[in-house]
Amino acid sequence: MFFDTHSHLFEEDFDIDRINCIKRLYETNTKCMFVGFNTNNNIVAYNLAQELNMYSSAGLHPDTQFEDIDANLASLREFIKTHKVYALGECGLDFHWEPFDKERQMRLFEEQIKMSIEFNLPLIIHSRDAHQETFDMLKKYEGQVYGIMHCYSGSLELAREYVKMGWYISLGGPLTFKNAKEPKRVAQGIDISHLLIETDCPFLTPEPFRGKRNESSYVHYVALALANLKNMTIEDVENITYQNALKVYNIKE
Ligand code: NI
Repeated sequence: MFFDTHSHLFEEDFDIDRINCIKRLYETNTKCMFVGFNTNNNIVAYNLAQELNMYSSAGLHPDTQFEDIDANLASLREFIKTHKVYALGECGLDFHWEPFDKERQMRLFEEQIKMSIEFNLPLIIHSRDAHQETFDMLKKYEGQVYGIMHCYSGSLELAREYVKMGWYISLGGPLTFKNAKEPKRVAQGIDISHLLIETDCPFLTPEPFRGKRNESSYVHYVALALANLKNMTIEDVENITYQNALKVYNIKE
């Protein structure tokens, strides 16, 4: 079995043909973590997971534009209390699109970190153009928090620091891109026992479909790229990353 540790297959992009995408999940032996990222779609992700007997998470993305942080955090807390979710996230920091409100993002992130400790859930971390700030924040809670650096785009050196702190590094479509040097260094330099694979669909489509919509069944292209980079068989990558996913998400099968 393959485990796509980061899927948004519940998104509107798939409304016209989701049934076919789901068929391909079964054909390719792929399971998914459906990752929510705002108050509206946390429930949508959950419902799809229930329907398919798969898994979901709930969180508030740093990019989400809502007025009232406290009201959204209160909704998230209530949701986690009343629904079985396997992780808190995605959450984190994104300083890519200007203008952004750094203070606001930091507060939203830190409140979710505290919530993950309270509910003993792994975190799914989104970090874009904010590598140092994300690291500093998680370092502050070292030993109390754990989880996944999703679609990791930082340096190998920083990845090693995360692994020392018990984190998993998740790699996606960019691993298959010709010009993506750093993800390949990370794939080669981090032991397979701390690596995961994901799609982040509908985004970041791997080769040979780059430029088109991504979907979770394509996660095996990421597995193949990882196998080539690590000189392993795709079966070994498939099995080990699957077991890693069960472990970090505390899934008992
Ligand atoms: Ni995502």
